[in-house]
Amino acid sequence: MKILVLFAHPLLEKSHINRELVKVYADIEQLTFHDLYERYPEFDIDIEFEKNLLVEHDLIIFHHPFYWYSCPPLMKQWIDMVLEVGWAYGNGGFALQNKMWFQVISAGGMEKAYNPEGHNRYSIREYLRPFEQTARLCRMKYLPPYVVFGTHRLSREELNEHITNLKEGLRFLKNEGFPGCETDNSNCLNKWIKSS
Ligand SMILES: Cc1cc2nc3c(=O)[nH]c(=O)nc-3n(C[C@H](O)[C@H](O)[C@H](O)COP(=O)(O)O)c2cc1C
Repeated sequence: MKILVLFAHPLLEKSHINRELVKVYADIEQLTFHDLYERYPEFDIDIEFEKNLLVEHDLIIFHHPFYWYSCPPLMKQWIDMVLEVGWAYGNGGFALQNKMWFQVISAGGMEKAYNPEGHNRYSIREYLRPFEQTARLCRMKYLPPYVVFGTHRLSREELNEHITNLKEGLRFLKNEGFPGCETDNSNCLNKWIKSS
């Protein structure tokens, strides 16, 4: 299984979390790390290049900090430009059919804030519905996200634990493939990865 990481962080020079988290990808074989802000600082996405990259990979990771309950703007631009009708979905083809869509996200809010009683009121999974439905429209297999919550208060030990946990999860997905309905209702993949 080949993994493509689409990484979008507009303020990487100020990052504490993702700058460390991306180190997860260094020892995973057959993985392409693609830094969108580095490649497209002017947002002029090379659509054919991106489509070819997607076709060559099986697990597509959208890795980004959570900004205003969504992804940073270049990732949205990437989705708008690359997932063309007649190629990614609709008449003419489903070029991404059966590939996996997986989001790796860091969020300032604590996990307890992302529920009906918390101040964000909805779960992270609910905020990500547009991504989930985009994946499904493209006939891709959607995995619940891996989320690093509470980034403002995260200790070095907790960050290291996330790095280990995510690495394990990626190895599992690489070897075993899509876990299917086991994960359908999970809010995020963190606990499932720990227990698998
Ligand atoms: C413009 C902006 C919007 C943000 N929006 C959210 C948000 O909607 N929910 C949340 O939990 N955190 C939000 N945050 C906090 C970031 O998610 C958090 O700082 C980031 O994930 C930390 O990762 P980093 O150290 O790699 O930048 C926001 C931060 C910025 C700068």
